[in-house]
Amino acid sequence: MGLYVTELRLADFRSFERLVVLPSAGVTVFVGPNAAGKTNTVEALQLLTAGQSFRRPTPSQLVREGAESARIDARLEGDGRVVDVRCDAAPGKRSFTRNGKRIQASEMPESLMSVLFTPDDLAIVKRGASVRRDELDGFGRQANRGYANVLTAYQRSVEQRNRLLKDELVDMSLLAAWDASVALGGATLLAARLRLFSRLAEKVAAVYATVSGGERLACSYACTLGQDLEDLSRDELRGLFLERLEAVREDDLRRGQTTVGPHRDDVVFSIEGRDARAYGSQGQQRSVALALKMAEVELAGEILGSTPLLLLDDVMSELDGTRREAAMGFVSGGIQTVITTTNLGYFSPTLLDSAEVVSFGDK
Ligand SMILES: Nc1ncnc2c1ncn2[C@@H]1O[C@H](COP(=O)(O)OP(=O)(O)O)[C@@H](O)[C@H]1O
Ligand SMILES: [Mg+2]
Repeated sequence: MGLYVTELRLADFRSFERLVVLPSAGVTVFVGPNAAGKTNTVEALQLLTAGQSFRRPTPSQLVREGAESARIDARLEGDGRVVDVRCDAAPGKRSFTRNGKRIQASEMPESLMSVLFTPDDLAIVKRGASVRRDELDGFGRQANRGYANVLTAYQRSVEQRNRLLKDELVDMSLLAAWDASVALGGATLLAARLRLFSRLAEKVAAVYATVSGGERLACSYACTLGQDLEDLSRDELRGLFLERLEAVREDDLRRGQTTVGPHRDDVVFSIEGRDARAYGSQGQQRSVALALKMAEVELAGEILGSTPLLLLDDVMSELDGTRREAAMGFVSGGIQTVITTTNLGYFSPTLLDSAEVVSFGDK
């Protein structure tokens, strides 16, 4: 199974002066009223696994008001190993350690990665393309540290190219140099993304068929560089990207932006041949979101050979009975899961019997 969290300690983190939680290896339910600190606790778990938080906080936002620094500790155990991970935050700085040794945020998922599902994710089909790209990249960077580095390098070169495009008088030889850098980084990222996407898409379709009672879902990667790129080598992708950059150069100069590349791509879901964004019901769109998260959990298991930590923040109240059951059937299969809720009524007595229930009080 790999590692799982046996203990979480918060000190001056968000709304908590001190908190100790001992999650179970299976399902742990955090129950409590609004603003009791449930999402804060999930965020702490995400920081210690993904190395970043979905709320994209500044370090000082993590520090409890009135305190100077925040500290989060977790003990991970499994396969006869014990690993202590820690995150420290103070205004302007954040650091991570594993067994007392400083490491990069991008190295945190190597011990244990996580898949987070929040109410915002339920609208992933409808929201902007950047949300769907971030979903793929968020998974990719956890499943493979190389992916994180490639992504950062590419984003930097696009930023540099955009800055140059906005210059009053653009130095064309400098632009050619940035084109080369963007094309190389972009081709590397795209190759990694396409590999990841094809494995994920297959699983999403399979899970969706189960959740929906047999509906056919297809996921495709809509690339701004062209169609059917799956079989191209990284070098071929780089060549194609360079050609495209040249073709759109005038346009890019006018807009002061790089208008093609993986930072502009999208993921399209279609149900029974119709675009789910334009035609899907809210229920179908939510099922796609659920299927995507479950597929991520499965794929993480395949890639890493161990199960990720699954964090379900407040999603039970948003799902209808069938989808809730599908989600519960999935989590009861040996995946360490933390679920937050304001109401235990959403859970079956059987699940609550085997789960660890932690009550969060009013603050
Ligand atoms: N840095 C901070 N210092 C003190 N309180 C904070 C800080 N960050 C967030 N909070 C408080 O945490 C509460 C929200 O907690 P949250 O975990 O989102 O609640 P819920 O249980 O509804 O998920 C809010 O009352 C917010 O003001
Ligand atoms: Mg919350």
